[in-house]
Amino acid sequence: MKPKIFVTRIIPEKGLEMLRLQADVEVWPDPSPPDYPILLQKVKGIDALLCMLTDTIDGSLMDAIGPQVKVISQFAVGVDNIDITAATRRGIPVGNTPGVLTDTTADLAWALIMAAARRVVEGDKFTRSGKWKTWGPIDFLGRDIYGATLGIVGFGRIGRAMAKRAQGFDMRILYYSRRRHPEAEQKYCAQYVDLDTLLHESDFVSLHTNLSEETHHLMNATRFKKMKSGSILINTARGPVVDPPALYHALASGTIAYAALDVTEPEPIRPDDPLLTLDNIIICPHIGSASHKTRGKMALMAAENLIAGLKGERLPNCVNPQVYTASR
Ligand code: NAP
Ligand code: GLV
Ligand code: GLV
Repeated sequence: MKPKIFVTRIIPEKGLEMLRLQADVEVWPDPSPPDYPILLQKVKGIDALLCMLTDTIDGSLMDAIGPQVKVISQFAVGVDNIDITAATRRGIPVGNTPGVLTDTTADLAWALIMAAARRVVEGDKFTRSGKWKTWGPIDFLGRDIYGATLGIVGFGRIGRAMAKRAQGFDMRILYYSRRRHPEAEQKYCAQYVDLDTLLHESDFVSLHTNLSEETHHLMNATRFKKMKSGSILINTARGPVVDPPALYHALASGTIAYAALDVTEPEPIRPDDPLLTLDNIIICPHIGSASHKTRGKMALMAAENLIAGLKGERLPNCVNPQVYTASR
């Protein structure tokens, strides 16, 4: 009998094709994710789960699946929606999709930097509203990107891809991470500074950490006050890395000039969220990795992780390799 797997959303077809060769595949067909109680029902007795960042995968869900489960494969690099400790405790390997989405996500972060600095979205709204009467010498003045200082918080794969792009704009590049990365800082001409210095000196602060207890509300009221006047915040990491009321206050009071977000807390942002009343913010609906090519690669990678798990092989990309060592 073929193993049974559940896929929590429709993913690019080539990933599903690969899975169907190996297993009985049930795919949640709706554009919205299954609610947690429905997910609990759907996963009962499956051999493997392919899930999204929109699913809460905790210990209770793992228990609902049952002890036969061989792998949980996430269609994303970030795995903060999965209780990794609970998975490790149960000996379940968890896969993710690092690397293939790095450049696509960095490209989007750059789209946000440029759109915010040069007020592209405001300009488009202005044009459509019929308000554009003439060219104006003091209209729509924004901030220069070239020659400015970019502060990168979290110098991992995407953080470094940001630095690579910034070199082409002759930017001064600062970074902060838990550790120094001497080789990477040389390669990308980036200077390691502490977080306070980064906030104080950067014209653009771009967030690229994973979400953890440590990075939850990393950008809070105290940190916003340390940001340079006229500076711009970009968040393509995870919504909860930023404290929303603190961001609102920083933008409304003019402590910082602009923000551009691809991620919010919560997701989706509520229609009555005060941030949506501001003109100096751009908010995208979590589209960092959303290119045809990259989503296709993510589908293949997530399928490969899942199939390896089903076969009892080591996952090509495993976030909890401790499951492979005897002493857990
Ligand atoms: P990564 O290579 O693991 O980079 C994350 C970096 O954050 C790590 O290198 C780590 O560096 C640093 N970090 C962790 N905790 C920190 C802390 N407390 N303070 C400062 N730095 C910290 O991951 P990635 O592939 O670049 O992806 C980063 C995140 O982007 C993902 O986890 C995901 O949440 C998000 N993402 C979003 C989208 C989107 O659609 N918007 C797409 C892809 C990824 P050190 O070890 O040096 O601290
Ligand atoms: C997207 O947000 C990801 O973590 O891959
Ligand atoms: C603007 O369009 C210019 O020519 O300076």
